[in-house]
Amino acid sequence: MKKRILSAMLSLAMAATLFAGCGGGDSAGGKAGGDKKVGVAMPTQSSERWINDGANMKSELEKLGYEVDLQYAEDDVQMQVSQIENMIASGVSCLVIASIDSSALVNVEAQAKEAGIPIIAYDRLLMDTDAVSYYATFDNKGVGTAIGKYIEEKKDLPGAQSAGENYTIEFFMGSPDDNNAKMLYDGVMEVLQPYLDDGTLVCKSGRTSFDDTCILRWSQETAQQNCENYLTGFYADEDLDIACSAFDGFAYGIKAALEGAGYTDANWPMITGQDAELMAVKNIISGKQSMSIYKDTRLLAAKCVTMVQAVLEGAEPEINDTEQYNNGKIVVPSYLCTPVAVDKDNYQKEIVDGGYYTEEQLAE
Ligand code: BGC
Repeated sequence: MKKRILSAMLSLAMAATLFAGCGGGDSAGGKAGGDKKVGVAMPTQSSERWINDGANMKSELEKLGYEVDLQYAEDDVQMQVSQIENMIASGVSCLVIASIDSSALVNVEAQAKEAGIPIIAYDRLLMDTDAVSYYATFDNKGVGTAIGKYIEEKKDLPGAQSAGENYTIEFFMGSPDDNNAKMLYDGVMEVLQPYLDDGTLVCKSGRTSFDDTCILRWSQETAQQNCENYLTGFYADEDLDIACSAFDGFAYGIKAALEGAGYTDANWPMITGQDAELMAVKNIISGKQSMSIYKDTRLLAAKCVTMVQAVLEGAEPEINDTEQYNNGKIVVPSYLCTPVAVDKDNYQKEIVDGGYYTEEQLAE
């Protein structure tokens, strides 16, 4: 008799262990995702950062026992709409969306709301909808001010200003359908506009407004094309000193345009970027890009996962901004991670020591 009870207890214990194993681990509160599925809609695999974002989200959610449906839409808005429709039809419990066009998902977001499926906006704000519960992102205006301040400091613009010197500059800003791009532009101009106004910075193309410098879908090819046009149209007699670019992908296009126009180490301009992609950090090391904005996607994924848990399990997510992100319908409670400017002087400390890339990856 005793033996039978003992063996029954053992089987129960084994079953419990197996069950926990299937769940893939416990959250801090010991609660697992159970049979809940989370749909993660990402914009594109054409840029490395989104591949990392998707992979981090998937593994963080799976660790908590959630099933994950991760989809990339290759910058095709209609494809993203269908992917989200399919996720809703397949019975996901929550949607995490990094949009391609932030305003194009209004109908499918309304469908999710109807079906009782909460939505978390990932990195890019979802506009014109009241169906979004939380927003995990980086301080997008802060990205712009960090780029502006880097230019101001490294080119010593206050010094140039008092000496009556000037630098030439061209702007390559993000996609007009991405709210982040406008905020970044505002941040850049908060720092640089006074220097444009007094002639310390000279933009020979005259293109300084957001509308004149934005690049649809963050296209590297368009950035290269624009840079080629600027160089042939306005820089035949004078070098371009600064390419103020909002994205590492643009920096690659600008680099190609400069090489095509015969720029060398002797007159290579300052080039900024965003995302600290592996290729960009390699270019920083070799001197072909000056800086990038490091956004630790592991941190962003971790914050986003706390929001998923909040809507599914009633936990409290950490929020640090309840003012800036008005999407036209509601102010979305947000967590803003801090972006860090990296260049050849601090990439080691920030990126290698922080375990984002290894020395080996950067040396390949
Ligand atoms: C992101 C940036 C990224 C850009 C292009 C933006 O929404 O915030 O980190 O560089 O999209 O993918």
